[in-house]
Amino acid sequence: MALLKLANLSAFYGKAQALHGVDIEVNEGEIVAVIGANGAGKSTMLDSIMGLTNTTGSMVYAGQEISQKSSADIVNAGIGYGSERFNLFPYLSVYDNLMVGAYTARDTIESNLQQVYALFPRLAERRTQETSNMSGGERQMVSLGRAMMTNPRLLMVDEPTIGLAPKLCAEIAAALRRMRDEYGLTILITEQNAQFALTLAERIYVLESGKVMVSGTVDELRHDAKLTQAYFGHQD
Ligand SMILES: Nc1ncnc2c1ncn2[C@@H]1O[C@H](COP(=O)(O)OP(=O)(O)O)[C@@H](O)[C@H]1O
Ligand SMILES: [Mg+2]
Repeated sequence: MALLKLANLSAFYGKAQALHGVDIEVNEGEIVAVIGANGAGKSTMLDSIMGLTNTTGSMVYAGQEISQKSSADIVNAGIGYGSERFNLFPYLSVYDNLMVGAYTARDTIESNLQQVYALFPRLAERRTQETSNMSGGERQMVSLGRAMMTNPRLLMVDEPTIGLAPKLCAEIAAALRRMRDEYGLTILITEQNAQFALTLAERIYVLESGKVMVSGTVDELRHDAKLTQAYFGHQD
């Protein structure tokens, strides 16, 4: 059974429709990427799962319909969200930003914090520093760490590599892989960087104008020359 299953999901901003009947499944233990250009609906999809938009259709997480639940209940149910739109508090320290994520999982604060610092030793070194003084890569680490502090079973990250140099992308990929391999998380990311998605994920969905146009395993998509031309640029 899928851990998360979106079926015929549509999302609306007033009268404007941003998602049109999206079907996506994420199985326990998988890393799945949804790729698409600016405006494709990636953030809208993740926001919708968190109960932040108006939707129709069905969203089932761990066997429960969540489309009518509040965001707080969805976080409590085990979905962590590293959003692109909800930024860090720039004048709070790394530690205080992490604690913002901790309010739903008070019993596990200490162990979650140790996990975050083990994944990102740089955050441990800079725990008292304001995030306004940090690089884009370090801020992305804080954002991932904050999502980890909710003690999620499913971690969703919106464009984890946006604005990051290749070396930092590799660091973020390594951290996400460890979250799955060592901490047992299931991971759903969105990306404009298709190459990053191909190296990290096992399955990919291509979102265009609010619709899933293509989906498959990374191996299937890699070996389809027309697809790789259209969506992943030149490679191999
Ligand atoms: N708050 C909003 N109000 C109205 N329209 C929005 C809002 N957020 C996004 N949209 C529209 O929804 C569509 C999908 O946007 P978005 O989910 O942000 O795409 P992506 O994250 O893939 O760049 C776009 O047409 C965008 O203009
Ligand atoms: Mg977006």
